[in-house]
Amino acid sequence: MIIDTHAHYDDGQFDSDRETLLAKMEDAGIGFIVNAGSTISSWDKIQKLTEDYPFVYGAIGVHPDEVGSLDEEQFARMSAPLDQEKIVAVGEIGLDYYWDNESHELQKEWFIRQLELARGKDMPVIIHSREAASDTMEIMKKHAAGMKAVIHCYSYSAEMAKEYVKMGYYIGVGGVVTFKNAKKLKQVVQEIPLTSIVLETDCPYLAPVPYRGKRNCSLYLPYVAEEIAALKETSVEEVVRQTEINSRKLYNFLDIL
Ligand code: NI
Repeated sequence: MIIDTHAHYDDGQFDSDRETLLAKMEDAGIGFIVNAGSTISSWDKIQKLTEDYPFVYGAIGVHPDEVGSLDEEQFARMSAPLDQEKIVAVGEIGLDYYWDNESHELQKEWFIRQLELARGKDMPVIIHSREAASDTMEIMKKHAAGMKAVIHCYSYSAEMAKEYVKMGYYIGVGGVVTFKNAKKLKQVVQEIPLTSIVLETDCPYLAPVPYRGKRNCSLYLPYVAEEIAALKETSVEEVVRQTEINSRKLYNFLDIL
């Protein structure tokens, strides 16, 4: 089965047809979806999605663009949803120096606090990192050693990807890999083992070719799997089989059918 390790079905872009769309997943071979948290207001919506759909799991966290809305009180509120059975990770958390919505110091502080929260609960983390390669690596080395993690929507060098792989982390690959100009990511996929790759949409964003620019959804993941198979000179079936195993290990789904 295909596992979407990173989606945002709580997004308003799905308000008009969320139910019809999610009803199509099982027949399309999409086995599980992990809906990542981004804002504080997403947390309730995500919990509701996990209650409404057996195949939807959730992650709770605050995206680096949104950490300005965090304070001790809000941070303390994260703990209870994380203890729920269908919430399987802390995320997405990290650093974003591209949008630079918040100061680097504030981003780092809440990134580290959320990593520590995940460690305390023995939960995996979903890492968002954009234009912040060296600071992210430094924080992961210092504060996330031995933890399970996925570097989602990976956008850095193959060399750094190999370093993350050595640290035991997974590399999240989505629609971008199908873009003609995504030379760097294609090289990453070629150079790291398939045992370290997980599939993701980041929907509604980053739809693969031939839907580039449109609203993304998990139904388009076969295009991502096809591109990875071509780059690694293997079959789509093998990509789906191995990334399923990887995703199950990442989120501790091993015993769920
Ligand atoms: Ni995301």
